[in-house]
Amino acid sequence: MKVALIGLGTVGRGVLEMLAKKDLGLVLTGIADSKSAFLDPAGIDIARVLARKKKEGFCGDQHLTAEDVIKKADYDALIEVTPTNALSGEPAIGYIKAALNRKKHVVTSNKGPIALAAKELRAMARKKGVALRYEATVAGAIPVMHTLDHGLAGNEILALYGVLNGTCNFILTRMAAEGLTYEQALMEAREMGYAEADPTYDVQGIDAAIKLVILANTIWDNGVKLDDVDRTGIDLLTPDALRLADEGGCTIRLIAEANPKKHLLRVSPRILDKNHPLVFEGTLNALTLETDMAKEITLIGRGAGSVETASAIIGDLLWIRDRYVQRA
Ligand SMILES: NC(=O)c1ccc[n+]([C@@H]2O[C@H](COP(=O)([O-])OP(=O)(O)OC[C@H]3O[C@@H](n4cnc5c(N)ncnc54)[C@H](OP(=O)(O)O)[C@@H]3O)[C@@H](O)[C@H]2O)c1
Repeated sequence: MKVALIGLGTVGRGVLEMLAKKDLGLVLTGIADSKSAFLDPAGIDIARVLARKKKEGFCGDQHLTAEDVIKKADYDALIEVTPTNALSGEPAIGYIKAALNRKKHVVTSNKGPIALAAKELRAMARKKGVALRYEATVAGAIPVMHTLDHGLAGNEILALYGVLNGTCNFILTRMAAEGLTYEQALMEAREMGYAEADPTYDVQGIDAAIKLVILANTIWDNGVKLDDVDRTGIDLLTPDALRLADEGGCTIRLIAEANPKKHLLRVSPRILDKNHPLVFEGTLNALTLETDMAKEITLIGRGAGSVETASAIIGDLLWIRDRYVQRA
């Protein structure tokens, strides 16, 4: 199967490294970053592209753009891994629409277009007879969408709750373990590379809320938006709050939860027993699904990272290959 990649940052690099390392039958025919692009229908030499990007800061011809790749390259599936814009979803929404219009499958790790325009994009993909997959948008490497599609097929999903932001989990872990203030734990998270220079999206629960919206719309197709999420972050939590929880055998975690029958769509710090399945240390993510037949299922794993996110993207690509491309 031929693939084109838009975005050669942390995630794009992870995808390319795995395509080069593993014999997956996926051939790269187009690539673009923000400044350049490169097309070769016979297959691009991945090692050369990665070396050029590292040395020169761009991956191809500076007279070509992402649009050139999306509209002209010879590919079956577009891998869209540009930065998330949670307000407009652009340029990713435009990129995804242009690929779908050409009847190309799309795999994205970008939360913006899926949180803002999933219904429209999914309808467009259906109309064109292609797939739109976005496993990597929620909980990184954890195969949430594949579990929903396959392992839990036939189940009614009644409710879900989870830890969907590793940065907050790390900060809360450190505050509880060492009695650190929020500011001290955030500084540590920054030093470890777990928090952005501007941590607002993470610590105010926006990132977790966006993932909750994606999950709710995927499972229940209920058209919820970011504004519908009742959201409280962790930035006002004090060491005293964590100490009091600790005295009761509990701790505090930022929990995203949804239950349509109870009209519940919330991200907030919750007091949990230390033995609760959603209490774990560090930057992991986890999600519990409550279902009618399987009852409770909890998935846990890495919520971010270059190769970890590539795992989710490659899973989607191979799903598309097996379902559509090999049969064509
Ligand atoms: N990092 C993770 O662990 C992770 C996990 C799950 C999901 N995600 C999501 O995956 C996406 C990519 O994340 P990342 O960490 O790889 O981001 P990143 O390191 O910032 O890389 C983004 C890439 O997109 C390119 N780009 C920016 N604007 C572009 C444009 N208009 N047209 C074409 N390319 C453009 C950048 O080009 P230049 O190289 O020229 O700057 C860069 O190569 C984001 O939406 C993120 O939220 C990330």
